Amino acid sequence: MGNYTSWIPSLKDISNIQEKTIIELGCGTGTKTLIDKFKHVYSFEYARSKEWYDKCTGDYRDFNNWTSKFYLMDSELNNSDMELIKSGGKIRKTEDLSLFFKRLDEFIIENNVKFDVGFVDQGFHFRGETVNFLIKKEIPLIMAHDCEYPAMYGYDIVNLSNYTTKDAHHTRFYFKGA
Ligand SMILES: C[S@@+](CC[C@H](N)C(=O)[O-])C[C@H]1O[C@@H](n2cnc3c(N)ncnc32)[C@H](O)[C@@H]1O
Repeated sequence: MGNYTSWIPSLKDISNIQEKTIIELGCGTGTKTLIDKFKHVYSFEYARSKEWYDKCTGDYRDFNNWTSKFYLMDSELNNSDMELIKSGGKIRKTEDLSLFFKRLDEFIIENNVKFDVGFVDQGFHFRGETVNFLIKKEIPLIMAHDCEYPAMYGYDIVNLSNYTTKDAHHTRFYFKGA
């Protein structure tokens, strides 16, 4: 993982940002920038530890335009991510993402929101698979951080369907139907 917030300059490419709603996968210090710029931010944290989530809720709980949820990462996904890292991104046991996607689906359903933007920035390396999940949800704009490491994060296995891409400021943008 590179600099945690190197994606921030890429936000200037999003038009009418103050009217848009974003779902952020993986929260941190950069979440505050999203809260300042977007109409509403939904952060979903599925991580090995609750430490950073607790810091975020401590810092952001008073912002009415921030909604969040935490789950401790399940052991299958943790083990698969370790194997993925050791293989340089070649071994990707996508089936071990099923609990993550189930929880993420529940979060989306319980909030009943049409997201304008998805932001893939979680602390484990199955990010290309997560972009594919958000493409299936037809989120019109998906941002994915650390695009300079496509093999490790799986950006080389994204099924673009009717999306086009652009890279800017360590971020790959996926635009629907352009
Ligand atoms: C790439 S960071 C996510 C960052 C968030 N979107 C941001 O830009 O600040 C991915 C994960 O690392 C953890 N994390 C966040 N900020 C951190 C920090 N400053 N130091 C260590 N871990 C952090 C969290 O568990 C988070 O889900």
